[in-house]
Amino acid sequence: MLAMSALDLDAVRTQIVGLATPLPRREGTPGPAINLDNAATTPPLRQVQATVERFLGVYSSVHRGAGLKSQAASAAYEEARAVVGRFVGARPNQHQVIFTRNTTEALNLLAHRLDLAPGQVIISTELEHHSNDLPWRGVAPVAHVRTTPEGALDEAHYAALLNQYVGRVRLVAVTGGSNVTGYVPPIHRMAALAHAHGAAIVVDAAQLAPHRRIALGDLADPAHLDYVALSGHKLYAPYGAGALIGRADTFARGAPMLAGGGSVRRVTPQIVAWADGPAREEAGTPNAVGAVALAAACLALENLGFEAITAHETALTAYALDQLAGVPGLWLYGDPDPDGAAERLGVIPFCLDGYDPHLVAAILSYEAGIAVRSGSFCAQPYVRRLLKLEHAGCEQGQQGLVRASFGLYTTEAEVARLVSTLHAITAGDYDGLYALSPTTGSFQPIGWKLAPQSLFQLTERGGGF
Ligand SMILES: Cc1ncc(COP(=O)(O)O)c(C=O)c1O
Repeated sequence: MLAMSALDLDAVRTQIVGLATPLPRREGTPGPAINLDNAATTPPLRQVQATVERFLGVYSSVHRGAGLKSQAASAAYEEARAVVGRFVGARPNQHQVIFTRNTTEALNLLAHRLDLAPGQVIISTELEHHSNDLPWRGVAPVAHVRTTPEGALDEAHYAALLNQYVGRVRLVAVTGGSNVTGYVPPIHRMAALAHAHGAAIVVDAAQLAPHRRIALGDLADPAHLDYVALSGHKLYAPYGAGALIGRADTFARGAPMLAGGGSVRRVTPQIVAWADGPAREEAGTPNAVGAVALAAACLALENLGFEAITAHETALTAYALDQLAGVPGLWLYGDPDPDGAAERLGVIPFCLDGYDPHLVAAILSYEAGIAVRSGSFCAQPYVRRLLKLEHAGCEQGQQGLVRASFGLYTTEAEVARLVSTLHAITAGDYDGLYALSPTTGSFQPIGWKLAPQSLFQLTERGGGF
């Protein structure tokens, strides 16, 4: 049984949109959808949906209209900015909250605005999502901190890189939590070391934000974080907004990444005077609905309390690691120790010996309605490194892994269903029932086809006027 946690799971689950949608199975009657792919994206919270519905009643142009609704929408947008700032401990006199589409855009924006001097380098790590690696490669030479065979950061190598490039490191870019192994780097310790070497630090908080409280800290604190990036769709607010939160002085000078309406104070045929504050970075009509949704999600998570969220997810992760270890031929990657669950996120990568990871994911979906992800999770260098583990028992040359990832609403029963289905796979229950489709390139049950449109069709209710 799960340890007692302060989270009332039944109440929490009533707040998750989509849990009641039954999914067809290859055999038998449709059953509950089990989403163990929360590292990819999370369903909306009902509170978020309800806030969006309310906001749509006053929805109008933001910072561009004299109408009363426009004023209300503008005020809501700025209130959302303040809420998101508070969510990560931003100080209004030090930090700026810039709304973006997602983490990827936030990190690209920062890369654009850093204004690197010739010779400066950026330190990233081998465990990053491509979105916290490729944007830096576009603006400077990038040195990558190595990982250990278990997927943890090699802190000695980090220190060595800072010394190797002494005086030249502009930025350290590190994830707050791995989307592959759930590993949580020591971001504040890394920040202190980065600052001691004259570098700033950005934390890709796409995975961390839904699970742990984030504290930017005062700029005077050596362990402060200079910037964090996050995505609403991983935070129970899939309405198209994310944010870059960080030191305001970075954005006080220079031209924005996107130029256009709203980003300027004054324009003449000869002169462009950029706006002050976040407006400079937010050219074009902003996604006010997304921003309000993101803020509503931040408030909902704060109300639930990160202590309760973390306690629940830690207990669930420990249970999952313990149970998965008992599946014959299953290899866990990252830290497999249930006792270490409090130090990591509920993101668990594994493989089943003799089974293509994409086949495992297909069977879980078609037989049990369990959504997981398979492949390299937009972190190819890291996954390739993990697959080199000497003890790894899964097929040589394997191209990826299976990943189960939990949300605050995931239950022990859902994890148990994952484990029992994996037992059935290794017992051979589904051998010969699936084939790789040459048309879709994915594994499909032989002789059984489901049109995705049977779950949702845009024009179901007539659509047009
Ligand atoms: C650690 C990490 N960073 C960045 C991203 C990119 O997030 P988005 O696709 O919302 O821009 C992801 C998405 O999976 C992620 O897991």
